[in-house]
Amino acid sequence: MTIPRRSLLSTLLFFALGVAANPAVINQSPIKLALFRQHNFTSAHNLVTHDQARAQQLKNRASKGNAGVLVNTPITNQAVTYTASVGVGNPPTTYSLLIDTGSSNTWVGADKRYQISTTTRPTLNLVTVTYGSGSFKGLEVTDSLTISPNAVIKSQSIGAAFTSQGFNGVDGILGIGPVDLTEDTLFPATSATVSTVTDNLFSQGLIPANQVGIYFAPTTQQSVQNGELTYGGTDSTKYTGTISYTPVTSTSPASNYWGINQSIRYGSSTNILSTTAGIVDTGTTLILIASDAFSRYMSATGAVPDSNTGLLRITTAQYANLQSLYFTTGGVTYTLTANAQLFPRSLNTLIGGTAGKIYLIVANLGSPSGQGLDFINGYAFLERFYSVFDTTNKRVGFATTAYTTATTN
Ligand SMILES: *[C@@H]1O[C@H](CO)[C@@H](O)[C@H](O)[C@H]1NC(C)=O
Ligand SMILES: *[C@@H]1O[C@H](CO)[C@@H](O)[C@H](O)[C@H]1NC(C)=O
Repeated sequence: MTIPRRSLLSTLLFFALGVAANPAVINQSPIKLALFRQHNFTSAHNLVTHDQARAQQLKNRASKGNAGVLVNTPITNQAVTYTASVGVGNPPTTYSLLIDTGSSNTWVGADKRYQISTTTRPTLNLVTVTYGSGSFKGLEVTDSLTISPNAVIKSQSIGAAFTSQGFNGVDGILGIGPVDLTEDTLFPATSATVSTVTDNLFSQGLIPANQVGIYFAPTTQQSVQNGELTYGGTDSTKYTGTISYTPVTSTSPASNYWGINQSIRYGSSTNILSTTAGIVDTGTTLILIASDAFSRYMSATGAVPDSNTGLLRITTAQYANLQSLYFTTGGVTYTLTANAQLFPRSLNTLIGGTAGKIYLIVANLGSPSGQGLDFINGYAFLERFYSVFDTTNKRVGFATTAYTTATTN
């Protein structure tokens, strides 16, 4: 493709002006962004397939990099997703973007095409990222990005997609993973990373800390605004007690993401997963655990695989005896109650299940433990615990919420 020379000149001019800009003034207030929950599933088989394909892709990507990754799993975009609305350009065009802790590039153009405006500056790079549930290719541009009226990033590097697969119903992704995940996503600038939205909000003085707080609430409705992302801090109205932190794990490949060391126990003494590395991920719907841990969970609960939905199923009597699952990380134990282990029963028929039956949200990661990414704490976990992703201190925080012990499922 060709880039007009005038664009290059204006890009250079833009950078020259940027360097001369006044030092940023720190805004001491964190910025809140509403999150909207959407479901797209016609069967839980696809939900499990989606989550397992993502797990496989996250493992592959960390070991082989972005370039040359082959995904053999069919693309399925059936999942539970949270989106936020952000503005790009001037005047801003509003895009609905998936919130993704497992990737770090931000791009638009899936459903709504990228709109060029007076603040658009093309770069000389093409960008491509492959996800477990899709991919996109486009031109990397810089543009102004509006999170809220008083939080406008002056020059955010974003992808303007030419083509994308697997992202129906959304306009792109707002990446909130670690910046290293942007390595090898640009061509020809193969080794450069791309500053993330969070990094830029912080470096441009728009937020007081380089961290993100996330709140999701369980829901039994298909589509609802029930989440909140806080840039630069946490929202104390959204959690109870205090936030406890655990360092990002040093075990690869989990260390490339928001990875932590964690153990999982069922009831008072049944070990499900000894302390090992895994990740916290807003792109995964269920809680995935390594296949050996999954077998132990099945034995402990008496659950059986349900052929209609692909999830585990228990009887009413087994539910009456279902014990809590205890997740221990950073010396603190988080209790996932029996009710929190259920798929919301009001949505059973949406996933090919039967009304009144009881399905579980703990699913098989699809590979045995000992591979450096042995669990994924997805939405089923994050809808019960407030989470904090702290780049400066390389740590992940959790706190209980008003919904931790809710019996909404
Ligand atoms: C839901 O997923 C299916 C395929 O998995 C896709 O064809 C459809 O367009 C999606 N719908 C929305 C609204 O995302
Ligand atoms: C996590 O577990 C690994 C493997 O046991 C260990 O080497 C590491 O020190 C632990 N802690 C962190 C923060 O990575």
